Amino acid sequence: MKRKPISPKLLLRHKWKTKIFAVILVGFCFSTLLLMDAQYSRIGASSLFPQFVQKPKIAFLFLARNRLPLDLVWDEFFQGENENRFSIYVHSRPGFLLNRLTTRSRYFLDRQVNNSIQIYWGEASMIQAEIILLQHALMDPFNERFAFLSDSCIPLYNFSYTYDYIMSTSTSFVDSFADTKEGRYNPKMDPVIPVNNWRKGSQWVILTRKHAEIIVKDEVVFPMFQQHCQRKSLPEFWRDRPVPADNSKEHNCIPDEHYVATLLAQKGLEGELTRRSLTHTSWDISSSKGRERQGWHPVTYKLADATPMLIQSIKDIDNIYYETEYRREWCTSKGKPSPCFLFARKFTRPAAMRLLNMSALGVSKEASSYSFTS
Ligand SMILES: *[C@@H]1O[C@H](CO)[C@@H](O)[C@H](O)[C@H]1NC(C)=O
Ligand SMILES: *[C@@H]1O[C@H](CO)[C@@H](O)[C@H](O)[C@H]1NC(C)=O
Ligand SMILES: *[C@@H]1O[C@H](CO)[C@@H](O)[C@H](O)[C@H]1NC(C)=O
Repeated sequence: MKRKPISPKLLLRHKWKTKIFAVILVGFCFSTLLLMDAQYSRIGASSLFPQFVQKPKIAFLFLARNRLPLDLVWDEFFQGENENRFSIYVHSRPGFLLNRLTTRSRYFLDRQVNNSIQIYWGEASMIQAEIILLQHALMDPFNERFAFLSDSCIPLYNFSYTYDYIMSTSTSFVDSFADTKEGRYNPKMDPVIPVNNWRKGSQWVILTRKHAEIIVKDEVVFPMFQQHCQRKSLPEFWRDRPVPADNSKEHNCIPDEHYVATLLAQKGLEGELTRRSLTHTSWDISSSKGRERQGWHPVTYKLADATPMLIQSIKDIDNIYYETEYRREWCTSKGKPSPCFLFARKFTRPAAMRLLNMSALGVSKEASSYSFTS
């Protein structure tokens, strides 16, 4: 069969035109699909292209002393999860290197921030470390929530449940309540921080991007904390030990228990908060020796304590009572009564490993769900 000869020039132009047309067509199709996908996601249907569409991410921000002793628990939690829904950042003391020798979870490799600082527990340096973590995490425009976690903290549910719970509201989760009776408010902070904006709350907060940016940009409240909160002469978490008798001359405001809640109150943003923490801490009342809560310290669960009953009892909590405000928070998610806590601390490594072995945490995905992500 003989073909009509076409001049090479014409052929080239023809090809060129076809190419442009194809590119436009593909582009059009793709943007239509993206648009459709966005619509679908908005109405709650599952995404048509989970692998193409970038989901909003939760940044998990770990404040660690050195290594992450519970890395294998978190490994199980992130396992099989499509990595477009989370990111990880770790702040460990300067000089410590998180590598294949110090963690057995690939999720933590290369996730250490490179400008970490030495933290003196109970001093404003703790806030500084939180700001460093936020600065790194904010560089990723897809990070929409910022969850602070300690190195002794475990997840109580699987990733998808955790993700949906956190993303289902446009608020931050910040434990926040009025508290002036412990004398941690330093009157020298007035009038920059008036006493009626002084708040207390757990440092284990989950922030929206807006609130994370406010913290990183804050040039008013943080300097007040740096100036007026003096370090306590304790090498560890001060709360882990009884308060020494000779601390009367030091004014300790425990910055990490007050900063975020106070800053957001100061900015008039409490309406954008779910005012509770998603991290459970058990406080040991028996060690309280009279002086308000100063003698309290968080319970560390050891191997023998780590039972499915313990985990269930934490998961069963559905309300929190705030004594100073006579406020009871009934925990809800998506408008329905829900467990209050997604995470819990403090667990030793053997305790956490035992729970993992017993499958008591419910962090693993069900086998059937693997087919979606592989
Ligand atoms: C530290 O990390 C940041 C963010 O990932 C990067 O931009 C910067 O270049 C790094 N600095 C050094 C000294 O490696
Ligand atoms: C977990 O289970 C494995 C095997 O089933 C066992 O070798 C390991 O010692 C267990 N670890 C703990 C902490 O119970
Ligand atoms: C995750 O956990 C929730 C609540 O425990 C459960 O209903 C759901 O089936 C689990 N999802 C997967 C993918 O395993």
